[in-house]
This record gives sequence, structure tokens and C-alpha cells, in this order.
Amino acid sequence: MTYLTLSFIVSFLLGSIPWGVIVSKLAFHKDIREEGSGNIGTTNAFRAMGKAGGAVVFLLDFGKGVLSGWLAAWVFAPAIAGVAVDGTAAEGQALLAAFGPTGVNPVSLCLALAFAGCTLGHIFSPWLKFKGGKGIAVAAACLLFVYGPVGFFIEIAVFALGILITRCVSVGSIAAAVVCPLLGLYFYWGHWVSWVIIAATALVVIWAHRANIGRLRAGTENKIGSKKKERP
Ligand code: G3P
Repeated sequence: MTYLTLSFIVSFLLGSIPWGVIVSKLAFHKDIREEGSGNIGTTNAFRAMGKAGGAVVFLLDFGKGVLSGWLAAWVFAPAIAGVAVDGTAAEGQALLAAFGPTGVNPVSLCLALAFAGCTLGHIFSPWLKFKGGKGIAVAAACLLFVYGPVGFFIEIAVFALGILITRCVSVGSIAAAVVCPLLGLYFYWGHWVSWVIIAATALVVIWAHRANIGRLRAGTENKIGSKKKERP
């Protein structure tokens, strides 16, 4: 198994851990999927379990994103770069042969696959019959490693601005997902396969917000501070 495959699979498995469901059931004896928007992520965790439960779910979801990004950046990518530079390992030669002529950097590919794996694992968790959350906390955490701190803070600023203006977390989330491939044009310029993987993942995140988009269009989306709680 190549490090690239490993990066995707390990991140997918980490992302698939449904912390929202686990925390709600174990600590609060309820199912987050039957509360508020029905989403298993941080926003709904705050609705369903209050500040403590919300914070715990956020930290755990963010943590699995950090771990995926960290493993890709500090374990798998260096291993790939090592064998590539070495030029003797079969994987390094295969990577160079497969990607070298197109200018695709296998290290950026490793990071992009971790981002995709963790985010998709969260959205399509096998433990929840391939349903799950919307991927914002995990994707943001992964971006810390995929784009680095500057890209990460731009994303957080866009997210916060969207919320400040509309009081809808979903608007901040969708705006951050839209900006993600645009930032990739800067951070991953020339690494087109990696960029496509990142952009496709951001599209899936936007698709995961389809119920929110429907509610935004209908003017019924949940707002911070509002008592009204819509189901998807
Ligand atoms: O990150 C999820 C957020 O964008 C929307 O969550 O629960 O309001 O659907 P929710």
C-alpha cells in the first residue's frame, strides 16, 4: 500500500468517527440526530447539548482533522519525499513516473488526500450507514496543514464574517467552502491534481449543506440566538 493510499484511508477512518453521536449518546443519553437540525456536527452539538457538549464535540471533531493533517504533513509526506529523493524505493520511482511529467507534487497530493479523506469520512461515515456531518470543523482543521496557518486564518476570517453578517453558521460555512478552492489557486498553483481533489471536496461540503441552502432560500434557517430549530 502506498503512502498516498494510506494517507487517504487513515484520514477517512479518523474522519468517520461520529463524535457528535458518541458524545450525545454516552454523556447526554440522547441522539444528536434527533435534535435541532439533525446534524452531528459542532453547531448542532451546541444546540442539542449546550456549551459543554458543543465544545467537547468541536474539540474531538477538530482533533481528528488535526491528526489527519498532521499525519499527512509530518509522517506520510516526509516518507514520500524521502523515498522520492532517495530514488531507489519502488514507490518513489512509481510516483515520479506517474506524476513527474505533469508537475504534480506527490507531497501536495498526500496532503490533499488527507483533506479529502478526513472530510469525506466525516460526511459519509460507514458507522452511520454512510451518512454524517457537514465537514466544516474537520476540513478547517486539516487546512491548517494543507494550506498552512495563513490559509487557515483566512478561512476562519471568512467563516466568522459570514456568521457576523447573517447570524447563520451555515452561511459562514458555505462561504468558507466556496473560498477554499479559490485559496487553492494560490497555495496549490501548478499542483492541479491536488487542487482538483481539494476543490471537489469543497463542493461535497457545499452539497452537504443543501438542506441549509433550502432553508436560507425559504428564510427559515436557524440563526444564532434564535429559539426556532428547523429539521433538514
Ligand atoms: O457546519 C455545520 C453548519 O454549517 C450548519 O449546521 O446544524 O445548522 O445544519 P446546522
